[in-house]
Amino acid sequence: MRLVILKTYKELSLLGAEYITKRILEAPEKRPFVLGLPTGSTPLGIYRELIRIHKQGKLSFKNVITFNMDEYLGLPKAHPQSYHSFMWENFFRHIDIKEKNTHILDGEAPDPAAECRAYEEAIAEAGGIDLFLGGMGEDGHIAFNEPFSSLSSRTRVKILTESTRAVNARFFEGDINKVPTAALTVGVGTIMDAGELLIAASGRNKARALRDAVEGGISHRCPLSCIQNHRRAMMICDEDAAGELETGTVNYFKALEKIKSEKAGQEPS
Ligand code: GLP
Repeated sequence: MRLVILKTYKELSLLGAEYITKRILEAPEKRPFVLGLPTGSTPLGIYRELIRIHKQGKLSFKNVITFNMDEYLGLPKAHPQSYHSFMWENFFRHIDIKEKNTHILDGEAPDPAAECRAYEEAIAEAGGIDLFLGGMGEDGHIAFNEPFSSLSSRTRVKILTESTRAVNARFFEGDINKVPTAALTVGVGTIMDAGELLIAASGRNKARALRDAVEGGISHRCPLSCIQNHRRAMMICDEDAAGELETGTVNYFKALEKIKSEKAGQEPS
């Protein structure tokens, strides 16, 4: 995997957006580019930069299909904290993506298990996800795959941990009781099937999970550690999120990036 440690959140957002832009622009025209997307505060800067690049006329999303990672179970699409609302408010309504090309799990589906199966089928029909952008939870979760999730899981309903609900209470007037107790989420296996992973982490509160994912062994205890098994995974983080890594690890990845920038075109894997 590749780990890029940047000084600030702003730099992380810029790099993430430029990386995604490059991939979309490089994609062959005959098939739409399939992009997996997360919610949360971390990707907001990347979305802002992508919107800016789009408004400058340098990037179109007309040939892009998106699949979001997750949605709260039982939350109506119109709820201000639904991931539907989040995506339309913070990204989709500012770009030229076709509504029919955006996919988000329906938290109010009458049969959630069938909804999850249909989501996997829709991803397969689209030809699979080319690039999955992701964030991470403070406990190392990815999408809503909480610790001890199966590392080969597919899209399904997951019960949320108390700690995730406590962290996400900030979006629900600080009241944990208002945070749904379950979510529909793509599985770790679904994420691992993507052609490429781009994981963003920012802030001191992510430092322990990032350390476990990068330096620890692959374990369901830290679902994000699955990225160690991905053939093409890149993690971008700021210095705060890298704060618990060993000095040797930081030095290694920084040296790698230096060599990479000197020999542009060669990507360490
Ligand atoms: C939620 C989402 C995750 C996201 C995480 C971190 O739990 N389901 O996909 O990565 O929040 O969010 P933030 O970026 O706000 O820390």
